[in-house]
Amino acid sequence: ILLFFNRRRRKPGEPPLDNGLIPYVGWALQFGKDPLKFLKSQQKKHGDIFTSHIAGKYITFIMDPTQFQYVIKQAKHLDFREFANEMASRTFDYPRITEAKFPQLRDNMHRIYKIMQGTALDKLTDSMMGNLQHVFKWKFSQATDWKIEKMYQFCCGIIFEASFMTLYGKDPVADGHKLISEIRENFTKFDAKFPYLVINIPISLLGATRKVREELIHIFFPNKMAKRSEVSELIQTRKNLLDQYDVLQDHDRAAHHFAFLWASVGNTIPAAFWAMYYLVRHPEALAAVRDELDHLLQSTGQKRGPNYDLHITRVQLDSLVLLGSAINESLRLCSASMNIRVVQEDFVLELEGDQAYNLRKGDFVAIYPPTLHKDPEVYDDPEVFKYDRYVENEKEKTTFFKKGKKLKNYLMPFGSGVSICPGRFFAVNEIKQFLAVILLYMDMEMVENKIIGQDNSRTGLGILLPNSDIKFRYKPRKFDL
Ligand code: HEM
Repeated sequence: ILLFFNRRRRKPGEPPLDNGLIPYVGWALQFGKDPLKFLKSQQKKHGDIFTSHIAGKYITFIMDPTQFQYVIKQAKHLDFREFANEMASRTFDYPRITEAKFPQLRDNMHRIYKIMQGTALDKLTDSMMGNLQHVFKWKFSQATDWKIEKMYQFCCGIIFEASFMTLYGKDPVADGHKLISEIRENFTKFDAKFPYLVINIPISLLGATRKVREELIHIFFPNKMAKRSEVSELIQTRKNLLDQYDVLQDHDRAAHHFAFLWASVGNTIPAAFWAMYYLVRHPEALAAVRDELDHLLQSTGQKRGPNYDLHITRVQLDSLVLLGSAINESLRLCSASMNIRVVQEDFVLELEGDQAYNLRKGDFVAIYPPTLHKDPEVYDDPEVFKYDRYVENEKEKTTFFKKGKKLKNYLMPFGSGVSICPGRFFAVNEIKQFLAVILLYMDMEMVENKIIGQDNSRTGLGILLPNSDIKFRYKPRKFDL
């Protein structure tokens, strides 16, 4: 009863407040079950900005995408670092990097993210292409007739191994494929518990997760890292930086490498899966994208077929407009990362059209991109996969409108502003390369007719996983050379 009477009340100038019916829990159950449905029902009740009480937190949601930019630019009043650091240090088991004993560590790490852009990205992209083909040929060189496999497992196996080798290089002594598939199995076990760790469920309640996490961290201990060859410049530079901080223990350094591994494949695997799933489900889309790839090979004088190496540069990948559009379209449908900021001091959030709202210190402000990605005013038939939605006059389409206004942010799978994903260019290239290799080498068909849905357990955290795997079949393409 006390809790009920202590409920927060809306003060003048604040956004509409909805405490929900149950003290402390607030709207947590409805939000957890189907965030998009919950947010739309709150929007209908309160308008485009409102504060919902969810599991003890007050979260102000911004629903109008024409206003997103005004929130994104408020990096001083709306901070992301403390929140993200606390979550990452708990989940991956290293001390918070903002602690005074690690001066400038966070800023130095951010500087290193540049090695995922420009010419450094060219190198990473070339290395990924080589590794993808290496894994692909090793796995499928024997296939002559149709072979059936589960699609998620297929994507996971290829993307994990190729990304791991591209970033962390090779262990010259161990059997590479065997070692990496053992790491992948542990990674998948950890990943399944990742959403629970993020919401602060103690690791001791999560079965073998602590042991699995320790095993994953141990792969990156300095003595093991020192033995690896062909480590990417990105990881090597990160390693050198971590080595400069004497106060970090070997375990902490290794845990940082493990966290980066999670960031680099945790979302890329499901994103590659959905792009492949939608293309194989829509044969007309698959044919159009493959046609674009065949043309590129022809125009660059390359022979097609599993016995020939593919060379596709970053600039050529950028020119694949249909492939890029199909990937954007699948990202639109499967990404659900919540953009969260914490209010640093009581302040007035000014939005376009002379709107202003008082926000309280400690509250959260959130943008949930699916509200934009599934908005029928921005995207017609938002539930439908249209592979060429992001193409206009044979170029990438970047103009999408809401309330007659051109949107600055129309596709947000990679977050926004200060917390935008530094690996986004590499991620899109990897998915393009993966699809290019499988489309150019193989014919593919679904063997099950079921439509699969999304597993909402990682809503808010990135790309949603499918709620079940699905069988497909493939065989090498025949070429009339
Ligand atoms: C952060 C999405 C691939 C490295 C993020 C964030 C999102 C995201 C939404 C921000 C998290 C937040 O706001 O709390 C994705 C998606 C990917 C992808 C959808 C694939 C489709 C990658 C890849 C790499 C990477 C391939 C590296 C090779 C990172 C890192 C951060 C991050 C290091 C943390 C940045 C920081 O310290 O602030 N990613 N990501 N990501 N991502 Fe990605």
